[in-house]
Amino acid sequence: MAIVNGKEYPQLIILKMTSQLRTLMTIIRDENTKRNDFIFYADRINRLLIEEGLNCLPTSEKTVTTRTGEEYVGSEFVGKICAVPIIRAGLSMESVIREVAKKIRIAHILIQRDEETAKPIFYKSWLPEDIKERYVFILDPMLATGGSANATIATLKENQVDESKIIFINLVSVPEGIEAVLGTYPNIKMITAEVDRGLNENAFILPGLGDFGDIYFGID
Ligand code: PRP
Ligand code: URA
Repeated sequence: MAIVNGKEYPQLIILKMTSQLRTLMTIIRDENTKRNDFIFYADRINRLLIEEGLNCLPTSEKTVTTRTGEEYVGSEFVGKICAVPIIRAGLSMESVIREVAKKIRIAHILIQRDEETAKPIFYKSWLPEDIKERYVFILDPMLATGGSANATIATLKENQVDESKIIFINLVSVPEGIEAVLGTYPNIKMITAEVDRGLNENAFILPGLGDFGDIYFGID
């Protein structure tokens, strides 16, 4: 549960702002940070977010025998997962989730914001047939108006994915975007690293960091 602008969001997790995370966020927001550093530190934050996302998955009890011959009562993951990076910026999170989730399926969805209106334009999705049986991680580092995320969730729901199995991971968000997504789909889970002040007249996040996809993929 997290509170944003005085409103409670039971399904929202905001990462604890440790000195480590504050420092990483500062590096990726700094306009003087070089692209290689931006990639390295954004990947580190994405790793923290994805680990938190994995904590949302169900587990069941499992007992193993250790090499001392004693029993250890532990747990194991249950259920299959699929990641859905929103192309383009979401692709930056794909390699990070592959590092921690061995048997994961990766689907893709191509949505681009119209540069004039900031409305999402849906182009195409590539989803595995069994997606409705999986826990689905939507990956997109920026949550601004929430249009791209909502278009993605709508596509997943058309493919019979239950809202309760969707975990949306983003790196920087704003109150408007959180309300747009969790107000529409209150049963999904959302994990963010930091909630910024709001949007400017071009629907860019303030203080934000600029165009994540352009920086990460080196488009000037
Ligand atoms: C950016 C970002 C999100 C979207 C967020 O993508 O990666 O997908 O904007 O904005 P929203 O919440 O208002 O929809 P963009 O469409 O600019 O493309 P990119 O990933 O190629 O940079
Ligand atoms: N997409 C970005 O990359 N940055 C923003 O501030 C908003 C959308």
